[in-house]
Amino acid sequence: MIPDPPDPNPLRDAQDRRLPQIAGPCGMVIFGVTGDLSRKKLMPAIYDLANRGLLPPGFSLVGFARRDWAHQDFAQIVHDAVKEYARTDYREEVWRQLAKGFRFVPGDFSDDVAFAQLRDTIEELDRERGTAGNHAFYLSIPPRFFPDVVGQLKEHGLAEERSGSWRRVVVEKPFGHDLKSAQELNAIVSEVFPPEAVFRIDHYLGKETVQNILALRFANQLFEPIWNSNYVDHVQITMAEDIGIGGRAGYYDGIGAARDVIQNHLVQLMALTAMEEPTSFDAHSLRTEKQKVLRSVQLPDDLDLHTARGQYAAGWAGGEKVKGFLDEEDIPRSSTTETFAAIKLAIDTRRWAGVPFYLRHGKRLGRRVTEVAVVFKRAPHLPFTQTATEELGHNALVIRVQPDEGVTVRFGSKVPGGAMEIRDVNMDFAYGGAFVESSPEAYERLILDVLLGEPPLFPQHEEVELSWRILDPILEHWATSGKPQAYPSGTWGPSSAEEMLARDGRVWRRP
Ligand code: BG6
Repeated sequence: MIPDPPDPNPLRDAQDRRLPQIAGPCGMVIFGVTGDLSRKKLMPAIYDLANRGLLPPGFSLVGFARRDWAHQDFAQIVHDAVKEYARTDYREEVWRQLAKGFRFVPGDFSDDVAFAQLRDTIEELDRERGTAGNHAFYLSIPPRFFPDVVGQLKEHGLAEERSGSWRRVVVEKPFGHDLKSAQELNAIVSEVFPPEAVFRIDHYLGKETVQNILALRFANQLFEPIWNSNYVDHVQITMAEDIGIGGRAGYYDGIGAARDVIQNHLVQLMALTAMEEPTSFDAHSLRTEKQKVLRSVQLPDDLDLHTARGQYAAGWAGGEKVKGFLDEEDIPRSSTTETFAAIKLAIDTRRWAGVPFYLRHGKRLGRRVTEVAVVFKRAPHLPFTQTATEELGHNALVIRVQPDEGVTVRFGSKVPGGAMEIRDVNMDFAYGGAFVESSPEAYERLILDVLLGEPPLFPQHEEVELSWRILDPILEHWATSGKPQAYPSGTWGPSSAEEMLARDGRVWRRP
């Protein structure tokens, strides 16, 4: 056998994986450019990427909206958004270079002339800024507009890849409001774009701390041996927000906490926590393992006893009086939309047999915190008969997703003194203390991955379908079971959520 020639640069692979990759020549078109997401997240993330040197010099951003704006007006809007929300420092020379690639196309989604103008604009960018025919279309718009926009992209030849170039579409959640509508949406998008060109955003997957679940589990020897039903009592996944719905009544009413957050962010967190080790971190292997978890999920028999729903009433947030959900602007007094949801799921596998996963999310709760808490069984024997152990709880490993990113291990420790008194203590790892680099925003990572054509962090349609299969029976049950229970703003949700865990002899964590 002839040996391979020696690698002239044996460090190349290691270096390549450590250095961030820079996107090749390309541009992005944002539909829904006047929306909150675009201003608060997308525009700042694009600037932050440019500031970090990760965008190509000719990168171009095209805004499309029903506004009578010239290119400069659009540039001003992006400028204001960047100044207010960007993560990295403002640098005039970066801004100037980036802004040269800004274009605006006015029109609505049914306007043929506007889409013809969009095509001309893109061709002009290819000629003048070297975007090389590579363009991503970001649909930051309500799903009801998808058919129009995707149809127009097809009609005007904008979805077609020419030889050597790519076209991609980025779809923001919600991917439908139930299984059926998700399938319909998928049919619309996949008629025009092949599966590998569709990037579905679940921004939680772009968060460093969420990716760290995989590092923690699969890069260490310490945790995986006890990551199963022999040692784990239950898992609590919490995403609590202190904010209300703000100006999003139009989006939120009729959607609610379970569709807005549990179906996507929390189910993804559960899948990453529960899945088996993938053969690699490529998209196919990751998705295969996540899908196996989602397929194994079982709902409890009695949904009344094992789910809870709430709606925030007036109360307190950040030391200020705040109004209840039914008093929010544009919310009808009769709305039964839940702003808090908690559900109990089982994962029917050998690893997780008998270990409940409790997922909860709510708005206007005590504070903003997202965490995955793996709560362990008690030690089988405590040789401390003469000793105070009342203050000893369950051991727990808590992945703090935000805002105080890190990991906590909780265990019992001897209280200093003559007696053998034992009490819970915490051992903390904090990102801020361990690393100098600050974490990129989720949208920086995800937008860059779209431009690089890196799919692992984007759920495929199968995952979306499987998540709806979990949620649909719960939503159907709630639709016929009266109103959600009111809870005062600033508390930890409705009493029915406490009762739900108390029935299982457990309590929610107070993060
Ligand atoms: C979005 C939801 O997906 O996530 C919002 O639609 C929610 O309702 C938001 O406020 C929270 O995101 P983050 O990154 O601030 O936790």
